[in-house]
Amino acid sequence: MKAVAKKIDVIAKDRMKYGLQVGVTEERQRGADEWRQTTSVVTEPVVYGRYIYKEQIVKFPLKHTTDKEELSVYSIVGLGEYGKTTLAQLVYNNERVRNHFDLKIWIFVSDDFSMMKKWNKFKSLLQYETKGASILVTARLDIVASIMATYHAHRLTRLSDSDIWSLFKQQAFRENREERAELVEIGKKLVRKCVGSTLAAKVLGSSLRFTSDEHQWISVLESEFWNLTEDDPIMSVLRLSYFNLKLSLRPCFTFCAVFPKDFEMVKENLIHLWMANGLVTSRGNLQMEDVGNEVWNELYQRSFFQEVKSDFVGNITFKMHDFIHDLGQSFMGEECISYDVSKLTNFSIRVHHISLFDNKSKDDYMIPFQKFDSLRTFLEYKPPSKNLNMLLSSTPLRALHASFHQLSSLMSLIHLRYLELNQSPITILPGSVCRLQKLQTLKLERCHFLSSFPKQLIELKDLRHLMIKNCHSLMSSPFKIGKFTCLKTWSIFIVDSKTGYGLAELCNL
Ligand SMILES: Nc1ncnc2c1ncn2[C@@H]1O[C@H](COP(=O)(O)OP(=O)(O)OP(=O)(O)O)[C@@H](O)[C@H]1O
Ligand SMILES: [Mg+2]
Repeated sequence: MKAVAKKIDVIAKDRMKYGLQVGVTEERQRGADEWRQTTSVVTEPVVYGRYIYKEQIVKFPLKHTTDKEELSVYSIVGLGEYGKTTLAQLVYNNERVRNHFDLKIWIFVSDDFSMMKKWNKFKSLLQYETKGASILVTARLDIVASIMATYHAHRLTRLSDSDIWSLFKQQAFRENREERAELVEIGKKLVRKCVGSTLAAKVLGSSLRFTSDEHQWISVLESEFWNLTEDDPIMSVLRLSYFNLKLSLRPCFTFCAVFPKDFEMVKENLIHLWMANGLVTSRGNLQMEDVGNEVWNELYQRSFFQEVKSDFVGNITFKMHDFIHDLGQSFMGEECISYDVSKLTNFSIRVHHISLFDNKSKDDYMIPFQKFDSLRTFLEYKPPSKNLNMLLSSTPLRALHASFHQLSSLMSLIHLRYLELNQSPITILPGSVCRLQKLQTLKLERCHFLSSFPKQLIELKDLRHLMIKNCHSLMSSPFKIGKFTCLKTWSIFIVDSKTGYGLAELCNL
């Protein structure tokens, strides 16, 4: 006993000597958890069984645009989830196509007949403004393809069972996991239930990646979900996969329905919004950003996210497949809305998260509602609404993205944790922002006249991310930045000889 006590004393002294903190570290499984680590390297999924199609389609624009001046439109037609968009992406990124065209554009529209008028406008614009242009469209319906395309459609057949199996296997047996015969047998039965849907096979495979327990595989095979939506096996798979998520991950995923379909989300941004809404919190030695990273990675590993890209500085962007978006939206109902300003109608007063978009109108608009008692997130992407100040006062808002003019009304948003100001005509960040005691994230983008921060900014004790982008008039950093003890991101430091603005401030961070 004495010897043990002596040893503990030595350890305690060493702890003091090296300034180690007392804390509880979660014991983590090695190996199995390694995939959770964040990396800027994004692994592109393998595309199975589409080589011949790709070769055929690539030839079309290359051949036809050289000898014709008019616009050529090709189409890929196939049932939902057969892999049309994936094939179109292969063609779009093909080296020969890249070298052939000076300019390439990727546009997302739905199979919506109201788009036809716009489509014709777009087509004639391309036809007369450019020579030898070429369009590749994807559509689920023959009729859509026949209206749009000027050549025969490439009819996509479903992937062969063996290709679908390869896709499932690639997800389920990643990280060199042993392909045990009993799991392979169950997996093959599961793949048959996917009826040719690449998305279903991918999601199902990735949700089984986390367990080698045969019983769990059998329980998925025999799950009641298959009977609940017999006519829609894809939704069965997606729902099954959703209910396989840990409880803490589910609201993080459904929150993503606040963005419109096909929206390119920024990983870091999404994590900050999760934090603001209390959807991720610190755990043990992990800070809330680390937990957010873990959650994001798990959702990605389970194929809820796709088209993941990393830019040259490591910013990660990604999208959700529109079926996955539908899944999230189905759980959120009227609590989460992404709205096109041109189609504004009344919102439910129960709405929690809103994003407003508009691609057409250049005018300010009025939001047709008066009071939301439960509004938590408001993301307004151009143009600014006329009644925003009045609307947001007295809401329990946690996250706000807007291009405000009158920032004084921010003062009442005492719960605000995330504030993103875009193109605001401010010259100095107003004092009202400094009163937002709970603010964790402050982002200022394209505030072209912003030149300085008020000294009171120091009162934002919880500030973790202060991010400035394209604010070219900025002349100084915040006063005594070293006092922001929680600060993790500060994107630009302007050195000044005045006290409180020098490099010495950095040593406290
Ligand atoms: N040949 C393939 N090999 C591997 N993965 C694939 C393949 N085809 C599609 N996928 C994957 O399956 C998912 C659905 O594919 P995709 O979005 O291309 O289908 P789609 O036919 O365009 O669907 P929709 O009809 O909804 O537009 C994507 O996550 C994609 O990465
Ligand atoms: Mg598609």
